[in-house]
Amino acid sequence: MDRYDLILKGGQVVMPWGVEAADLAIAGGRIAAIGDLRMAEAAQVVDCKGLHVMPGLIDPHVHLRDPGDPKVETIATGTKAAVLGGLATVFDMPNTAPAITDAVRLDAKRAGLAGAAWCDVGLYVGATKTNIAALAELEHQPNVCAIKVFAGSSTGDMLVEDDASLEAVMRSGHRRICYHSEDEYRLQARKPMFTPGMPHRNHMEWRDVETAMLGTRRLMAIARRTNRPAHILHVSTAEELDYLGGFRDIATCEVLLNHLTQTDEAYDRLKGYAVMNPPIRDARHLEAAWAAVRDGRVDCVGSDHAPHSREAKERPWPNTAAGLTGIQTIVPLMLDHVSAGRLSLPRLADLMGTGPARVYGALTKGRLAVGYDGDVTVVDMKRQRTIEDSWIVSPCGWTPFAGHRCTGWPTMTIVRGNVVMREDEVLGAPVGAPVAFADTARA
Ligand code: DOR
Repeated sequence: MDRYDLILKGGQVVMPWGVEAADLAIAGGRIAAIGDLRMAEAAQVVDCKGLHVMPGLIDPHVHLRDPGDPKVETIATGTKAAVLGGLATVFDMPNTAPAITDAVRLDAKRAGLAGAAWCDVGLYVGATKTNIAALAELEHQPNVCAIKVFAGSSTGDMLVEDDASLEAVMRSGHRRICYHSEDEYRLQARKPMFTPGMPHRNHMEWRDVETAMLGTRRLMAIARRTNRPAHILHVSTAEELDYLGGFRDIATCEVLLNHLTQTDEAYDRLKGYAVMNPPIRDARHLEAAWAAVRDGRVDCVGSDHAPHSREAKERPWPNTAAGLTGIQTIVPLMLDHVSAGRLSLPRLADLMGTGPARVYGALTKGRLAVGYDGDVTVVDMKRQRTIEDSWIVSPCGWTPFAGHRCTGWPTMTIVRGNVVMREDEVLGAPVGAPVAFADTARA
């Protein structure tokens, strides 16, 4: 008789090609069998009748602020939030304090995952104008998901805004580069149009559609010239989504949960807790983002989890810190979108599983297939629950989605065969490890 470590029995298994009634077995941290396993045995058997068994979901865009300010977030708290919310893997941004821009800081960051991380973590390296010569080597370091370029300024001081420097970055190596695309010159030129204390909705007037579009147009011109693959993070405008459709040979893209869920009414309701970069915009852009999800132009959905203290969020605009929490809420909210008929579960598994795995080259993540990592998110599509601030474990302690009632909720998170969350309880020890990527050295 076949023996495994864990069998998930009788669930609806979300495969890349559709949903199938099947059992799924994990052994030695990897998916060992999918099918009818009634005759098999396991140390642990979990009844998944009435539940959906999804690949361990990936949020490819989080800011865990580590090193930085533990009163806001750490690797330990951010990844605990991740598994409570149904994520098995996150990719962590480099605009920490200090920023992850060289091999020494990258090594320290990787070392800090052991015994602290509850889920697996991929690591971004930041590009600056002074580390361009090192990027070709840095992008191949173990566990690096991508080089990140802030082509427009946001939180922190990372910025590569001029064409010559951007071209030098693109000529520096060959893996796909991730961009924060807002045109810095237009941002600075428009700043004097606004005065401190103006209503928060001016955030989307300052960082307007043309600022985003101009940034993406400039990046695509240089990417085309240098033939360097690009991934445009958090695309926030209908115009960019249309434009990027003409660059599918070199460009992939991400849209954010917030841009799929919130419109400009949020500024009046949430004030500083609606301020992020690129900004939340009007319903035309939200509809365009959903259209692009449905027609396949979007490769990934992320949260851009960007915690800040309440004090920093409550400063008058434009000194309000930009960024919203989302690591714990992205899966419940995306499941709620599934329940509302905006996308299917297989499409969600594509956007938060096979999509990021393909874009970043995470070789054994993002799909339920024998031999892949035993990462699973079990979800109950009938479960109804309201998101509350009190549920948030990030030390900053707030979510812009407090009061949002979700239909569909993650009930179990499994990381390489370890059940780390079940029914809202974090279990065992922090087993999270750095993620392996194609084209990188082994740790
Ligand atoms: O709103 C944002 N917050 N956008 C970014 O690009 C950075 C992030 C942060 O780190 O706070």
